[in-house]
Amino acid sequence: MSGKIYYNGNIVDRENAKVDIEDRGYQFADGVYEVVAFYHGEPFTLNEHMERLVFSASEIDIELPPAEILIKEAKNYIKETEYADKNAKLYVQVSRGVASRSHAYPDGMEPIIIMKAGPLDPNPEKYFQEGVKIITLPDERWSRCYIKSIALLPNILAKKKAKKAGAYEAIMTRDGFITEGSSSNIFIVEDETIITPPATNYILNGITRQTVINRLAPELNYEVKEESIPYYTLLNTDQVFLTGTTTEIMPVVQINDKVVGNGKVGKETKEIFEAFRELTGFVRGK
Ligand SMILES: Cc1ncc(COP(=O)(O)O)c(C=O)c1O
Repeated sequence: MSGKIYYNGNIVDRENAKVDIEDRGYQFADGVYEVVAFYHGEPFTLNEHMERLVFSASEIDIELPPAEILIKEAKNYIKETEYADKNAKLYVQVSRGVASRSHAYPDGMEPIIIMKAGPLDPNPEKYFQEGVKIITLPDERWSRCYIKSIALLPNILAKKKAKKAGAYEAIMTRDGFITEGSSSNIFIVEDETIITPPATNYILNGITRQTVINRLAPELNYEVKEESIPYYTLLNTDQVFLTGTTTEIMPVVQINDKVVGNGKVGKETKEIFEAFRELTGFVRGK
C-alpha cells in the first residue's frame, strides 16, 4: 500500500495514515464525503464538490474550513501524488473526529479531513457505447439523502444486488416514484425533453446531474424538466441514462428484464454523453 495521503493539512505516506478506533467516522459512520474526478491532472467541478462537502458537513453540525481553502489543499495534494498529470479520482472524507464512544458527541470536536487519490478506473467503453442494465429496488434509506453521508449501508447492499443480477446499477423507488441510483442520478428522455426527479431531500443533488441540467442540455437546446417520475413511466420510456462522477453519462438499455426503447442508445443520450466527454477533455487510454 504505497502512495500519499492528505491527513488534516499534512501529506503523509499511506502506511502512516491511521484511523483511531474511537474515530466517530469508524464507529458511527459520523461523517461526510466527496468524490472528485481529475482529467489529466485538471480538477473537474472541484469547486462545486467542495462547496457541497462544506454544506453536507454543516447539515450534520460539523464546521469545516471554507471551500476555497479545501480547493487549494486538494489541488496541492494531487500535485504531490503520482496522479499529478493523470486521470484520477479524489476521495475526500470528513469525520467528526475522535471521542470516547457515546451517541451524543461532545461540543468543540476537531473534524478529521483526509484525501486519497486513486485511478479514475473508467468504465469499459462498451458500456458507454451500447448501454447497461439496471435493476429496481425499494429505497430503504433515510429522509436526508441530500447529505453526502458516509453512512452508505443501503447503497452498498443495493449495488451488490445489482452486480449479482449482472446489472450496472440499482435504481431505488419510493412511494411509486423513482429517486436515484445507489451512486448515481437518473434521467429519462421523452419527446426530446430531458426529465429527472427534482432535487428534494430524497436524492443527492449530483454535480454531474447539475452539469447536465445547467450546461449540457441548454448547450444542446434541450428542455429540462425536474419532475417526479413514476416507476411505471420509467419502465415505459424510450431513453434512460445515469449520471455521476465516476459513472459519467451512462446509457441504460435494460431495466430488470425489460428492454428500454429499441434497446439502442438514443440520440439525445448520445449527444449528452458526447458533450460531457468534450467538456471533461477525457481521452481514453491516456
Ligand atoms: C446516492 C448518489 N446519488 C447521486 C450521485 C451522483 O453524484 P455526483 O454527480 O456528484 O457524483 C452519487 C455519487 O456518488 C451518489 O452516491
